[in-house]
Amino acid sequence: MCGIVAHHGTRPALPVLLDGLGRLEYRGYDSVGIALDPGGGASPHVHRSAGRLPALVAALPPEADEPTTGIGHTRWATHGPPVPANAHPHRDCTGRVALVHNGTLSDANRLRAELAAQGHLVATEVDSELVAHRIEDALPLVPALADVVAAVAAAVRGLRGAWALAVLVAGVDGVVLARRGSPLLVGSAPGRRMAASDELGLDPAVTEARELPEGHLAALGDEVTWFDADARPVPAPLPWPLAGRAATADRGDAPDFTAKEIDEQPAAARRLLDGLLGRLADGRLLTDLGLARPDRVRLVACGTSRHAAEVVARVLAVEGGVPSRVVTASEADLAVPEPGTLTMALSQSGETADVLAALDRWDDPVLALTNAPRSSLARRADAVLGLGCGPEIGVAATKTFTAQVIAGVAVALAIASASGRLAPARLAALEQVLDGLPARLAASAALAAAPAAALADELADRPGAVFVSRGAGVPYAQEGALKLEELAYRWVEALPAGELKHGPIALLGPGTPVVVVGAEPRERLAVGIAEVTARGARTVLVGSGEDADLPVCLPAEEPPWGPLEAAVALQLFAREVTVRLGHEVDRPRNLAKSVTVE
Ligand code: F6R
Repeated sequence: MCGIVAHHGTRPALPVLLDGLGRLEYRGYDSVGIALDPGGGASPHVHRSAGRLPALVAALPPEADEPTTGIGHTRWATHGPPVPANAHPHRDCTGRVALVHNGTLSDANRLRAELAAQGHLVATEVDSELVAHRIEDALPLVPALADVVAAVAAAVRGLRGAWALAVLVAGVDGVVLARRGSPLLVGSAPGRRMAASDELGLDPAVTEARELPEGHLAALGDEVTWFDADARPVPAPLPWPLAGRAATADRGDAPDFTAKEIDEQPAAARRLLDGLLGRLADGRLLTDLGLARPDRVRLVACGTSRHAAEVVARVLAVEGGVPSRVVTASEADLAVPEPGTLTMALSQSGETADVLAALDRWDDPVLALTNAPRSSLARRADAVLGLGCGPEIGVAATKTFTAQVIAGVAVALAIASASGRLAPARLAALEQVLDGLPARLAASAALAAAPAAALADELADRPGAVFVSRGAGVPYAQEGALKLEELAYRWVEALPAGELKHGPIALLGPGTPVVVVGAEPRERLAVGIAEVTARGARTVLVGSGEDADLPVCLPAEEPPWGPLEAAVALQLFAREVTVRLGHEVDRPRNLAKSVTVE
């Protein structure tokens, strides 16, 4: 995971590094660090802190303002806890090499043993440090920039895993970059050349970006130079313009970004639907995206996005009889290639390493559903359906979840229509229900707000909760559970109501919260509710009936995508519990907005 940034030029590096790191914190925020080239052949000066950027800034000495070359890193811990010693940049034993790394090495134990046998003193538990030692081994006594390129190429040759690296070497005027598996973008502005894990990390003055090709290296010197894996010069990759980058998100009057983003769902849904409705009949949406009608669909995703994928799979089956399979991206090695498949990859960030790695397993056309239309996933996909939600800063996905469901349902209906199984009149009726969704999301937020707060008052101190539903409601029960788990750090169990009696009912005691997400027909849930109330559990019914504890506005007849409106109420509930527990809503512990390691 993690975000990296590098700067070389004639202007001070520090403000650009700190700004870039601030914008990259969504990739991880356990610890942070920078290395600056003090010049005069001295070793890079390294400054590191546990926690967030302000802790680092507070500890910087005044002389940090001067250097014009530096590298920076914001970390999500994989190897070793988030203490300053494990923060990047990492150095070799002599201190003349400093590097930042995004990615993980899968053969770290072997490398560590090898280096120890050669007499290297490895100081930390972090895999990245091992690369610094290997680079030092390959450097001549007085290196030039070209020697560093050759040394980095030699150091990464034979490594297993993923890396985006930025390397500083004492006495060398420039930064060397290398990547495999993890993204790295390069851009220039007057007086500076820089690199970052993604567009957000690049200075706003940079107007175009180039992606460092897989397995290649580059050097930020007087100009940017590009190299293949054997350090042979190659032409620069093609650039793309960075105009129209999202402005830094503003929280406005909202208490936190998560609250703001929950509120934005009706407007985001409206924008998305306005671009989609009217393009579903006969699969026009597919044609517009340059895709043929598939025989079957594979949906690849993780976490919240996987819950959205479950909804889409159901719509494909119910409305089009289209076979589909939801693949948990990190388990993709178990998925069998099938001809005639369209792979739909759902990822709000477009940077989830598990999703990107999974796509390498198949040759099918890939449709990306993402809120980041210039992300690694978008670049990898054959077609992209952007969610257009605007930046989602809260680490817990909220508005991107509802948008993924809407976009995925639209694609599913287009496929069903193209297959001839979805009659025009039925499609028109479903489009009408979709059209009313933004108003129902808004009404649900209004209806559920006060009850969610009251329920949080009552239930915040319970150690866990069980979430159940049936049929189309199950993914929403799972999503509501995930929100409570990741924001409020509560143990949760989410399952189809019918499964309770096969074991999990043993968890229930007097007062155990059981959140029942009201899918229709309600009778199918009645038995489950009776079973839990008989055990003294506290049933929390989320639905449109008068008996609902968390009331939401659902359409008269349940659509094939189920009670999406309930997601809003469950988000509100999870947030209210989190506030009462005093946890930070936008940045839950141990998480990151973009999970860039497998
Ligand atoms: C939960 C959450 C995560 C992500 C998952 C996949 O609120 O945000 O579960 O859904 O890490 O992320 P993306 O959608 O960026 O691929």
